[in-house]
Amino acid sequence: MEKREEEKMQVTKTVKETREIVKAWKKEGLTVGLVPTMGFLHEGHASLIKRAREENDRVVVSVFVNPTQFGPNEDLEAYPRDFERDSTLCESIGTDLIFHPEPEDMYDSPCAYVSIEKLSDNLCGKTRPIHFRGVCTVVSKLFNIVSPDRAYFGQKDAQQLAIIKKMVKDLNFDIEIVGCPIIREEDGLAKSSRNTYLNTEERKAALCLSKSVAKGQEIIREGMSADELLKEMKMVIEAEPMAVIDYVSAVDALTMEHVDIIDRPVLVAMAVYIGKTRLIDNFSWEPAE
Ligand code: PAJ
Repeated sequence: MEKREEEKMQVTKTVKETREIVKAWKKEGLTVGLVPTMGFLHEGHASLIKRAREENDRVVVSVFVNPTQFGPNEDLEAYPRDFERDSTLCESIGTDLIFHPEPEDMYDSPCAYVSIEKLSDNLCGKTRPIHFRGVCTVVSKLFNIVSPDRAYFGQKDAQQLAIIKKMVKDLNFDIEIVGCPIIREEDGLAKSSRNTYLNTEERKAALCLSKSVAKGQEIIREGMSADELLKEMKMVIEAEPMAVIDYVSAVDALTMEHVDIIDRPVLVAMAVYIGKTRLIDNFSWEPAE
């Protein structure tokens, strides 16, 4: 890998300037890693950026709260934003370029969308029907704008990661998708920009998600019924009065279809409302060889 000179981090707002910078890098034969984000960065995002830093000559982080992945009653307006803080964090971990466009530069009365069928039907796709179409559309656009060699996504959003992998395969994007482990707070809560919505009481209640994940990891075994697994996991959440379950499900890790028996690689995922805040968590499991 080319030794990186300590150059100042650049920030672009337009597609044109971004393409020019990346084109110049490619001309020099440098590899490019992309970390797509919606900003309000925390250690989960930082872990992706660090991984990209290790594996590529140049690192691009996109910071864009993508309107097309929010439903009409979701938190688009309220979604936390702090570009200055994001920018300082990105620079401190060796980001070369932040792409930070405005919605009007990304969407001009669009007619083209990218939908990945079937995998988007279950889990979060059920309660958020247009969400993954918005995600796939914006990620495709970012891929076309940045032309990365590798792109980094967290297991925290496991369905999103599975969908992006399928999209890259089905549409022949020449990009390696790298999945990175979930980063948690010390007490187990998965880090999320949405954790800032939680008040003190809700923050405590939110621990029922990671406790339920831990329970699932403890009791899961090959050949057990999904019902039995999920019943035990749901009991942990239902013991918390502030929690309302959206779903707790076991699905095939590749197709995202429900499984009855734990007999292949599975994703065990949940979405739970704590007050008005919808939080997600999950774990993956595979049979021993
Ligand atoms: P955002 O929620 O900002 O997350 C950006 C990336 O960080 C995603 O790949 C997500 O899985 C990862 N991430 C978030 N929390 C994490 C944690 N605790 N541990 C590890 N990784 C974590 O996901 C999105 O934005 C958007 O849908 C996006 C892909 C940018 C498209 O708009």
